[in-house]
Amino acid sequence: MIKTMIITEDKLHIGAKALSDGKLVVFPTETVYGLGANALNPESVRQIFVAKGRPSDNPLIVHISDMDQLDRLVREVTDTTEKLMEAFWPGPLTMVMKKSSIIPEIITAGLDTVAIRMPSHRLARELIRLSGVPVAAPSANLSGSPSPTSERHVIDDLDGRVDIIIRGGDTQVGLESTVLDVTCNPPKILRPGQITYEDIEAVIGDVDYDQHLIDHKEVPRSPGMKYTHYSPKAQVIIISGIGMVGKIRQMKEEFELVGKTVGIMVSHEHIQQFEGIKCDLGQDNSIIANRLFACLRELDAYDVDIILTHSVKKEKLGVAIMNRLEKAAGHYIIDTGEESK
Ligand code: TXA
Ligand code: MG
Repeated sequence: MIKTMIITEDKLHIGAKALSDGKLVVFPTETVYGLGANALNPESVRQIFVAKGRPSDNPLIVHISDMDQLDRLVREVTDTTEKLMEAFWPGPLTMVMKKSSIIPEIITAGLDTVAIRMPSHRLARELIRLSGVPVAAPSANLSGSPSPTSERHVIDDLDGRVDIIIRGGDTQVGLESTVLDVTCNPPKILRPGQITYEDIEAVIGDVDYDQHLIDHKEVPRSPGMKYTHYSPKAQVIIISGIGMVGKIRQMKEEFELVGKTVGIMVSHEHIQQFEGIKCDLGQDNSIIANRLFACLRELDAYDVDIILTHSVKKEKLGVAIMNRLEKAAGHYIIDTGEESK
C-alpha cells in the first residue's frame, strides 16, 4: 500500500514536483482522469502498469502541455498532422506518430510509433507544464473497469496504489480521446471519441475507420482495442430496434425468475418506462457519453448480475458511445428488428 495524498488545485506544484521525481500522479482531463508518470523515466512508467494491473503490451499516450515539447518526441510532423493539431489541440484528439529514440520502449510496447495528446483541461496542462516533463497517462481506472469520470471513481480504484490524486470534479466529455493514426494515408481512426470522423474529415478531407472498428475481426492496430475494457462486473446486454422497451421488460422478468438481479440503463426519454434498479443516461448523446461510465459503475455498486441497455444511432458521437457500449457488453447485442433507436 502506498499512502495516497489527495490534493486540490492550489497544491498543483506538489503534484508537478512528484511527477518529475518519478512518482505516480492522477489528474483530471477533459475526457477521463489520467494516471500519470514521467514519460521519459521507464521505471516510473513501469509503475503505472503495476498500479493499474494493466498488461504491458498495451501502449500509453504521452501528454504534453505545449507545442515546443513535440519535436523531441516524434520523428516527423506531416502537414496533415499540423492541420489537425491546429484544429483540435488542445483537446480530445490523440495522434499516433513515428516515435523518436527518447521514447522508452515500455511506453510504446515495442511499436515504432507513439501516441501524443495535448489535453484542454486547464489543470492537466498546468500540471504538465509545471512538471517540466511529458506525461505518460492511461485512464486512471483499474484495468478492466470503466474509465473514471469523477474523483470518487478514481479514489475507489486507486487509493493506496498511487502517490497523489488531484481533485478536479467530474470530467466534461466522459469518453476517452479519439485516437487517430496519422502515420498512414489517409489517417485512420483507431478509437472513436468526441472528435468525430466528420470533424476530422472537415479539416483534412480524407479519413478512415480502422477495419477492426468495423468488423471486429482484423488484428487491431491499437493494441488496447483488443481488451474488453470498460467492462463492469455485470453482464451488459444491448437491445436495439423498435421492440426495445418490450424486450427489456421481458428479459428483466425472465432473469428475475431465475434469481438474477437486473439493472436498467436507458436514456432519459425511456427511464419512466422501467421499474427497479435503473440509471438515467440523459437526453442526448453528449450527456449519454458523459454519464455512460458512471452509470455502469453505479449499477455495479448495486451488485446487479445483468445490465440491460439500448443502442444509439451509430453517427457522430454515437459511434464512440456504441464502441464503448459494445465492448462493455462483449458484443452481446439483441436486435428486435426495424428502425433502431
Ligand atoms: O482521453 C484519453 O485518451 C485518456 C486521458 C487520460 O488522456 N487516456 C486514455 O489512455 O484513454 P488509455 O491508455 O486508456 O488508452 C490509450 C489508447 C489505447 O487504446 C492504446 O492501445 C492506444 O491508445 N495507443 C497508445 N499508443 C499507441 C500506438 N503507438 N499505436 C496505436 N495505438 C496506441
Ligand atoms: Mg483505458
